[in-house]
Amino acid sequence: MSSLATYQADFSLAGRCALITGSSAGLGLEIARAYAAHGARIILNGRDAQKLQLLAESLRSQGAQVDLWPQDLGDLPALDASYDALCKRVGTPDILVNNVGIRLRSRLQDAAWDQIEQLLHVDLLATLKLSKLAAQAMLAAQTQAGRIITLTSIAGPLARPGDAIYPVAKQGLSGLVRSLAVEFGGQGITSNGIAPGTFATESNAALAQDPVKGPLVVGRNPLARWARPDEIRAAAVFLASPAASYVNGHIVVVDGGFSITF
Ligand SMILES: NC(=O)c1ccc[n+]([C@@H]2O[C@H](COP(=O)([O-])OP(=O)(O)OC[C@H]3O[C@@H](n4cnc5c(N)ncnc54)[C@H](OP(=O)(O)O)[C@@H]3O)[C@@H](O)[C@H]2O)c1
Repeated sequence: MSSLATYQADFSLAGRCALITGSSAGLGLEIARAYAAHGARIILNGRDAQKLQLLAESLRSQGAQVDLWPQDLGDLPALDASYDALCKRVGTPDILVNNVGIRLRSRLQDAAWDQIEQLLHVDLLATLKLSKLAAQAMLAAQTQAGRIITLTSIAGPLARPGDAIYPVAKQGLSGLVRSLAVEFGGQGITSNGIAPGTFATESNAALAQDPVKGPLVVGRNPLARWARPDEIRAAAVFLASPAASYVNGHIVVVDGGFSITF
């Protein structure tokens, strides 16, 4: 019989290196902080190098091991060389959290084509490309227990008037979670997703403050409130940890029960 300490070790990320995309704010930063607290070396990503530097200094002063990858993930042609340079500089991440995502709430007929393309580039294609690069690098480095964790959304499988573009990208990511799971599972890399509900992050500030839509969101949620950003942490730590070694191709919904209501 294993000791009680073994169970605790199952949730440790000590010795692991985790890249979290879009981690200068919001859920990505929460996940990065949680991974650091569980012992991982973390790599922060965003477009603003100065903001990342300030965050790194603050986290290092709390004992975290932090590296930076300032990179616009929407710049798809730059990703191959940039990721390769990151691996050479920092080492191959054995955990990739595909967190980056931008939000557009628009009807298809109202959205400009360049807005649609930008969203699909950042939310879908960048994540697809980075997952390919990261998995290939993990295989080349013979990474043990590689992990790819992708932030989808409860908006993926659903439809709502006035919100035509974002669910397309997020449903694509749900497919990606499963495709990666079957392609790489046998080679030691699991793929899982987290589908957040309504979190009180910066990207939702306008919706939360909207006098009509804000209360509708709360009213429909069985927990009758928005999620705090730190409530994403447990699912993200679990899926990255040794405890989730047999979980593959699954999407954990963290929405307070929002998506089970109708
Ligand atoms: N918040 C929610 O309720 C909710 C619900 C469902 C799903 N999600 C998903 O969860 C993820 C995180 O959401 P969030 O609300 O925490 O987002 P957020 O607060 O808007 O944070 C976005 C992060 O991504 C970075 N970023 C944006 N564009 C980038 C780009 N082109 N390249 C690199 N980094 C970029 C931002 O940093 P810079 O601006 O400095 O680059 C920031 O660190 C997203 O995938 C989102 O779709 C969130």
